[in-house]
Amino acid sequence: MLNFSKCVQEMRTSEIRDLMSVATNPNIISFAGGMPNNDLFPVEEIDEIYNTLDDKVKKIGFQYAPTPGYPPLIESVKEYLRAKELPVDTNDLIITSGSLQAINIIAKLFVNPGDTVITESPCFIGGTSAFKSYQSKIVGIPLDADGIIMNDLKTAMDNDAKNAKLIYLSPYFHNPAGIVYSKERKNELLNYLQGKEIVLLEDDPYNELYFDESYKELTIPMKTIQPEPVPICYTGSFSKILGPGMRLGWLLASPEIINKAQLAKQSMDACSSTFTQVLADQFLRQGKLQPYLERLRAAYSKRMKIMNDCLKENMPTETKWVVPKGGFYIWINLPEHIDALEVLKISMDKGAIFVIGKTFDPNGVKNNCLRLSFSHTPEGLIEKGVKIIAEAVKAKL
Ligand SMILES: Cc1ncc(COP(=O)(O)O)c(C=O)c1O
Repeated sequence: MLNFSKCVQEMRTSEIRDLMSVATNPNIISFAGGMPNNDLFPVEEIDEIYNTLDDKVKKIGFQYAPTPGYPPLIESVKEYLRAKELPVDTNDLIITSGSLQAINIIAKLFVNPGDTVITESPCFIGGTSAFKSYQSKIVGIPLDADGIIMNDLKTAMDNDAKNAKLIYLSPYFHNPAGIVYSKERKNELLNYLQGKEIVLLEDDPYNELYFDESYKELTIPMKTIQPEPVPICYTGSFSKILGPGMRLGWLLASPEIINKAQLAKQSMDACSSTFTQVLADQFLRQGKLQPYLERLRAAYSKRMKIMNDCLKENMPTETKWVVPKGGFYIWINLPEHIDALEVLKISMDKGAIFVIGKTFDPNGVKNNCLRLSFSHTPEGLIEKGVKIIAEAVKAKL
């Protein structure tokens, strides 16, 4: 028998991944994958960038880059974040292989076996898996429509999460809850965390995907609002905009943290893909990002509206959801007695799939909820798929 390490024994398979294998069946309507739409990728822009690149730069793209990142990209990402008033001059930035690597690096930096990490509940499964792989104990705090529930957080930090080292939050167009934190909740949270010995990991891959200009101010990161004294590690990503195949994200944190992060990354992959770093750098430098983002916002907002209208029309009144102001997801709360797995079995039979709630529960238990992703499904199939799921829910009422 193979004697796997303790941290591997902690790992459980991701139901999202298991479902993805079913999702490749062309007849299934899948709302399962949290990925961007293939038809929206900036293929033409990237073709143009590559075809007009200097040969010298193309060759740089094939070579290793410095561990913290391809220097021109570090500069252009800093410029991009400076425009959001993030404190790029008093912090350092490292390019990572997706923001998931940044989360893993932070876990590696701060979590010893048995340490407590606070997360939201529900929580992005990549986050909980990363913390569990470092053998942390996770305390999940429920969310309402405005963000993490402060009373629950305070109770946890007075009790079982007293010595928590790290709090991991994804405040903007949450995966899977679809919510965005209100300004008041962010302020309350920052005030509460002040003076506590805890690092805040602010994970922000959907920041640009707001559906209306009036929602933009909701996406102001906590690291912008109050860079000090709460130590905030801010992560972002090109995955939900340029594409996850770029495998590029970033981590903005104090020089002390970035210094250690570089050491951690060195042994993980030495550097992120130089090839895609060169392309992403040109994308930013040539001013291609903003017009492209406008296209994305319009397309995802249209899809969300189609799904939401269809849910309103077909879902039983016992179900509840927050209409998202951005991002990829609608999170449906079912009555307590309904098990989303039972709903999934019926709906899969009829040809539509989604991700069941317990996938995102740090304890893997709470299952009267489900995540519908509207980003990837062909637009013309959203209505048909939602109707199938609504019928399946009704069958279980
Ligand atoms: C909240 C959240 N954080 C991080 C990631 C990881 O993204 P990537 O590693 O592709 O940047 C995802 C991807 O689904 C996500 O939803």
